[in-house]
Amino acid sequence: MASIKNPATEALAPFEHMSKSDTILLRKRLVGESCKLFFRSDPLKIVRAEAQYMYDEQGRAYLDCINNVAHVGHCQPDVVAAASRQLAVLNTNNRFLHDNLVLCAQRITDLMPEPLSVCFFVNSGSEANDLALRLARAHTKHQDVITLDHAYHGHLSTLIEISPYKFRQIPNHKQADWVHVAPVPDVYRGKYRESEHPGEDMGALYAEDVRRLCEKATAGGGGVACYIAESLQSCGGQVVPPPNYLREVFRHVRAAGGVCICDEVQVGFGRVGSHWWAFQLQGEDIVPDIVTMGKPMGNGYPVAAVVTTRAVADSFRDTGVEYFNTYGGNPVSCAVANAVLQVIEDQKLLQHAQDVGDYLLARCRELQGRHSLIGDVRGVGLFVGIELVVDRTTREPATAEAQHVLSRMKDESILLSSDGPDRNVLKLKPPMVFSKQNVDTVIEVLDQVLAELADEHADLEPEHAHQTNGKTNGILAH
Ligand SMILES: Cc1ncc(COP(=O)(O)O)c(C=O)c1O
Repeated sequence: MASIKNPATEALAPFEHMSKSDTILLRKRLVGESCKLFFRSDPLKIVRAEAQYMYDEQGRAYLDCINNVAHVGHCQPDVVAAASRQLAVLNTNNRFLHDNLVLCAQRITDLMPEPLSVCFFVNSGSEANDLALRLARAHTKHQDVITLDHAYHGHLSTLIEISPYKFRQIPNHKQADWVHVAPVPDVYRGKYRESEHPGEDMGALYAEDVRRLCEKATAGGGGVACYIAESLQSCGGQVVPPPNYLREVFRHVRAAGGVCICDEVQVGFGRVGSHWWAFQLQGEDIVPDIVTMGKPMGNGYPVAAVVTTRAVADSFRDTGVEYFNTYGGNPVSCAVANAVLQVIEDQKLLQHAQDVGDYLLARCRELQGRHSLIGDVRGVGLFVGIELVVDRTTREPATAEAQHVLSRMKDESILLSSDGPDRNVLKLKPPMVFSKQNVDTVIEVLDQVLAELADEHADLEPEHAHQTNGKTNGILAH
């Protein structure tokens, strides 16, 4: 460490002592190489952030189009103040009564349809989903889980088992016999494409596969404990399920004696604009048995939750196994979550997400009209996917082109990422304070980058994709 100390900056925070190359060096040496960086060939060193902007060690601003954790904006002052205040007074565990916890539980359950009325606090989306599985199994006395292809539900062992997005990468992985994988209800690229089933009830069609898996699970003796899915699939490629999908799925799963879990870890807390929770997009009558939430709930502070019905919570209690979580629901994390909820309400961020999201979708569709590389544009609120294809008829994924676009956008100070099994879906899920002016900036630069691609038929290997044309895009004008 001594060799990288700079006496002139000793008073600064540790990260400011180090050059970027030193940080890279130390990280390589000290952090497991399986912890991957964005933009590996030239990673970013981000030292501060504000609202929808992140700043590197040189003070260069990047427009953040992907961070759905910094939900109400990076370092939102009310959230920071709430955390600091509570941290200075008391932080302890939930074996003591504290108002922050009950007020937070009340706020969250008030935002849920009946009978979702009991709230468990945990520290991460993974903990939330793991607990959701335990609740489901305790309630149904069944074991089997139906999950979606390409799903990601967290990094704990049980969750890797139900996350094809991960387990498909493990060589010779043997899918657990209690896991059943249903097709992603993706009407653009999935098993059933709207173009091949004109006029059909695509929701019912996809749900029929879930019904068959329920039959299989029942016949196999494990019985269906639950169906778990994100209300809008994120890692799978920003997929919006067709109407009627959850209604039909819930009907089949419940008929088989299972419960239905909606993972709102990425898409909850008003991101979809018209509703607080993305499952509500499927209709007022759609009520899961368990809802999990995380990321945006703490705006970057680790706090997450599971909301369920009294009946499910009682079944869990009846197992006699006490639920204790050292940090879950502590006064600081609940102060943070309460502040996040307050900011969402005060700043009317649902309405904002809807207005800006509609504008973003419309402008992406405009681009689709100009660039044949864009095969599909989909989304709702500030959850948008732009799927790149080599050919609109075959829908061959334009994976290399997508990686080139990300790299060029970064050159132009815009942070995007890609998702989907073929990594060809550009995803936008920015902090909720993202503005229409930000949308214009992104569209203008994306237009330019796609035009370059079309003109040049450039060498698309990622390592060659870093030439910048030196243009600026005025993103500092926020
Ligand atoms: C849909 C979904 N569920 C659960 C998780 C796990 O959350 P965490 O990383 O907070 O454990 C993630 C994380 O990316 C996620 O995307």
